Amino acid sequence: MMRLEGKVAIVTGGGGGIGAAVARRLTAEGASVVIADLFEESAERAAAPLGDSALAVQFDAADPESVKAMIDRCMTHFGRIDILHNNAAMTDPVKSPQDTTAPDIPIGIWREILDINLTGYLLGCKYAIPHMIAGGGGSIINTASNSGSAGDLARIAYGSTKAAIMGLTRYVATQHGRQNIRCNSIAPGVVLTEALEKTVPGLKDIIKRHILTPEFGTPDDIAALVAFLASDESRYITGENISISGGGLVHQPHYADLLAFMESDG
Ligand SMILES: NC(=O)c1ccc[n+]([C@@H]2O[C@H](COP(=O)([O-])OP(=O)(O)OC[C@H]3O[C@@H](n4cnc5c(N)ncnc54)[C@H](O)[C@@H]3O)[C@@H](O)[C@H]2O)c1
Repeated sequence: MMRLEGKVAIVTGGGGGIGAAVARRLTAEGASVVIADLFEESAERAAAPLGDSALAVQFDAADPESVKAMIDRCMTHFGRIDILHNNAAMTDPVKSPQDTTAPDIPIGIWREILDINLTGYLLGCKYAIPHMIAGGGGSIINTASNSGSAGDLARIAYGSTKAAIMGLTRYVATQHGRQNIRCNSIAPGVVLTEALEKTVPGLKDIIKRHILTPEFGTPDDIAALVAFLASDESRYITGENISISGGGLVHQPHYADLLAFMESDG
């Protein structure tokens, strides 16, 4: 499929698992892609196999000047912006574990996570939308998470940003629909990235009892959804949040216990 021939995309957090897979998929479908990441080396590693179709750009999603410079770089290099995949999220191995509960989270960590995960997405929209309008329209895809739809025992800041991203998505869709700009969010459940494989293996076993598909999804599964939302095939879908999580949130809370009970009963 070459649904994105001639289109230009930006993928933030493109040096990592899901973003790198999205960049591969979008270029495979004919797009040129800016792979934007906090870590230049990761962005370059993701861009290298894609040749002239990809440009690695270092930027910090929390810094308005840096986001603007990254968007300007896309315009200078590729001349337009049709697709924005806001996908970066705080991944700092020291700071992320401090994202705990309301009484315990340091307020500085709360603010930093909001800056990267939420304000960073607003900034991407702020600076990309005028170029999309000038170019006749566009498609924005924001990576939320199932953590934005249900509470959890840790990561209060992360989950709150992911819920807010769904709201941001509806506002951008509402305010710019008539300018031919669509905006949707995607909400992955557990996705097997390299980073995730390294963290808390026990958690994967617990969560697996609650998904309906036999296996967890991969970054390529997410990339397929992003490519669809980026393409004109989804032209009548805007303002939506699409969960991509093996049905992790669609069933009754007692699902896993009942299944185990039925299986043990023979
Ligand atoms: N993997 C999962 O199971 C899962 C589940 C739900 C949602 N998500 C979401 O998917 C998105 C991608 O996550 P992933 O699993 O590929 O993780 P990842 O760590 O591989 O990717 C995140 C990327 O964001 C970059 N980043 C971090 N801070 C940044 C900053 N300040 N400015 C610019 N870039 C920055 C990182 O360098 C990294 O490349 C995130 O928004 C994450 O919340 C992932």
